Amino acid sequence: MSSAIFSRWMASQKPRAHTIRRAPAFYRNLEEALDVRRKDHGLYTLIKNTWAEGATLDFCSNDSLSFGASGRLRQAFEEELARNPGAQLGAGGSRLMDGNYDYIEAVEQEIAEYHGVEAALIVGSGCDGNYAIFEGIPRPGDAIVFDDLVHASIMDGISRSLASTKVSFAHNDVDAFREALISVWDSQPLIRQAKKCVLIVVESFYSMEGDMSPLKELVQTAKEIFPGGNAQFIIDEAHSMGVVGDRGLGFVHALGLDSEIAIKTHTFSKAFGSIGGVILGSHTVKNALVNFSRSTVFTAAPAFHQVAAIRAGYALMPQTQTTVGRDNIQHLVKRLFTKITAHPIWEEATARNIISIPVSEDWEERDFQTQLVPLWTRERWGHWLTFHLDARKYSAFPVTFPVVPKGNARLRIVIHADHSEEEVDGLVAAICEWAEEMVAIEMGAAGRKVPWAARQVYALAEES
Ligand SMILES: Cc1ncc(COP(=O)(O)O)c(C=O)c1O
Repeated sequence: MSSAIFSRWMASQKPRAHTIRRAPAFYRNLEEALDVRRKDHGLYTLIKNTWAEGATLDFCSNDSLSFGASGRLRQAFEEELARNPGAQLGAGGSRLMDGNYDYIEAVEQEIAEYHGVEAALIVGSGCDGNYAIFEGIPRPGDAIVFDDLVHASIMDGISRSLASTKVSFAHNDVDAFREALISVWDSQPLIRQAKKCVLIVVESFYSMEGDMSPLKELVQTAKEIFPGGNAQFIIDEAHSMGVVGDRGLGFVHALGLDSEIAIKTHTFSKAFGSIGGVILGSHTVKNALVNFSRSTVFTAAPAFHQVAAIRAGYALMPQTQTTVGRDNIQHLVKRLFTKITAHPIWEEATARNIISIPVSEDWEERDFQTQLVPLWTRERWGHWLTFHLDARKYSAFPVTFPVVPKGNARLRIVIHADHSEEEVDGLVAAICEWAEEMVAIEMGAAGRKVPWAARQVYALAEES
């Protein structure tokens, strides 16, 4: 029973530093730092997920096209291996030295053609891709203007970059974006003269918010303020790649904005169900990355089996079954929004700030939805909702500090291509059952303060 897993997790939140007072400072100091997390029940432990072996239904992982769960990717991968008998597993070195090989070049060429760009560079992961871009692309004197909720790997990449000016703007706020660009225009004469560049950095789908970039408006605004063409976009399509757009080409393609974007990054750890990343752009961009990015220079080239899994994923992308799955995601997200907001408890629960789904509010105005549905709740309640859903055999992940700022706890639901209407309806019923319980607790009608599933977990943690 998975509450045993949660109770192990609860038990791991007990402070430890005081139990090892005689240990060397090296260990004590680390345990003290970990205790800071434990105090807020914020220590991450490597617990085994409950869906992988079928104990729960996966509304949690990024396997949004169900390539992993359905076994389709594995089969395509095994076929790819069979076509390439005797391939070396390791690349044997950095791409710059002797780690380059025909197979990776051929797959990069195929990927570039699939996306209609000049060049593609496969990297070890999406994180590596973001580090590489910001290590390699911004030149001294350039400015980077970025959405303040971009992924940690983009933030880290930006902090390593040579750009002289780094300005963030409030998430998805086109007016704030305009102000950020104007501040760069006003303060940077070389950029004003179009001798240096502004690199604008956004994501397509923001996984913790479940929303998408107002990219058309951003592109338009950038053109107005920098008509000289020296404002260029870099977009991370980690969560939209495969899920939207013709043949899964992603968000930029779905908006018809391909020609406006200088660099796109995709990760294969999400909808592609494997691991790795690719940076798409021009030959110039690829050359700059290969030469200037420490993350590509000082690491071995992606290995054959990783590239083979990527190629297998691309083989699945245009298949009818995948298209049907993409459509099903759209259908089910809308169904979830419709069903949950129509539930009798929903209005009361949202009015009491017990639970809400901000992305459900204006879904009818959007051409398409993201597969990412964060349920906002109060700090720590995300864990309670997780326990409740797990007890009803639905797996979803609580997102708390430090992944999101304190006070912004949420539970992230990810809709998958192979989910059914019944499964989504069951999930909605389980969420609303929890909301009903929390409303009753708030109203003092439940005779207790902690919900049923959480009490189960706490009791087991006490025993352990
Ligand atoms: C927007 C974004 N970019 C990059 C990454 C990193 O991807 P990877 O797991 O391939 O390193 C993630 C993963 O969470 C992400 O959400």
